[in-house]
Amino acid sequence: MKPTVAPFPATRLRRLRSSEALRRLSRQHRLSADDLIWPIFVMDGRDAEEPIASMPGVTRKTVDRAVTAAREAYGLGIPAICIFPYTAMEARTEDCALAWSPDNISNQAIRAIKDAVPEMAIMTDIALDPYNINGHDGFVEDGRIVNDRTVEALVKMALAQAEAGADILGPSDMMDGRIGAIRGALESHGHENVTILSYTAKFASAFYGPFRDAVGATAALTGDKTTYQMDPGNADEAMRLVERDLQEGADMIMVKPGMPYLDICRAAKQTFSVPVFAYQVSGEYAMLQAAAQNGWLDGPKVMLESLLAFKRAGCDGILTYFAPEAARALRDAAGARNRR
Ligand code: PBG
Repeated sequence: MKPTVAPFPATRLRRLRSSEALRRLSRQHRLSADDLIWPIFVMDGRDAEEPIASMPGVTRKTVDRAVTAAREAYGLGIPAICIFPYTAMEARTEDCALAWSPDNISNQAIRAIKDAVPEMAIMTDIALDPYNINGHDGFVEDGRIVNDRTVEALVKMALAQAEAGADILGPSDMMDGRIGAIRGALESHGHENVTILSYTAKFASAFYGPFRDAVGATAALTGDKTTYQMDPGNADEAMRLVERDLQEGADMIMVKPGMPYLDICRAAKQTFSVPVFAYQVSGEYAMLQAAAQNGWLDGPKVMLESLLAFKRAGCDGILTYFAPEAARALRDAAGARNRR
């Protein structure tokens, strides 16, 4: 049923905008710390952090520092953290064996954070690119990224992460059949409550540039990822992927990047009514930070506005490098209101 709108002046749409109280009362969508997943980068070593030039304010952290950061983030109300490993060129191999080693830096971080902040949900990344000599998410044979052999490796990686204590597995590789294979392995190894947040509609995007610097993949990557990540011109294909991943056992699905793909977020939510997440990726973060650092944009305001846009588009949550800053801003805004 279409709502009836009486003609002006019976209807003045500005009435509900006329005071802060009425604006708060009639606001349809809200952002809260509950909506946030914080991606962090971990590296070898002790008590150290390294800045990432293309992501101002983001650092690679040693595991002990990651634990401290996780504790703070959980204290700010952020329910989940997502771990990405930095791997130097020397540690990368063609067989990617480090990817499923129980002692790789990512699995070390999972154990340490689980131990220190057991209530916090820990998300992982499943793809071979941090360990691969050529920077690809799958094995490369004769210049091609091969699917089925890669899926076998991804399953081993998933089991190692679940064994380390991960709560949310994030296959980001875009191989076909990986969700079903991972789900089957989790079931048969006693990990029936480990969830899968599938990178379902992941586009072959130039907005991942700063991330590849952060994980040390920029120098490694030969060619591009267009034979496995989605073409930015496609929307229907995203819906086929969502349906496929749900049928294979994904609990939640993701659209990535975020802001340039809000139409996909909206369509996925409307079509499937399942938990939908967006990844506000490194390039989106870098754009906003760069403009803010130049004084061209109001940084804190565009941060919150950009995150609220995901909620309006239908997302249940957002992976964002802004997570702690956003949670702090939300807490401070609530505190300021309560003091008045
Ligand atoms: C790799 C992976 C990427 C991101 C998350 N997992 C990069 C890529 O596909 O090349 C990007 C995240 C970001 O840009 O913030 N499997």
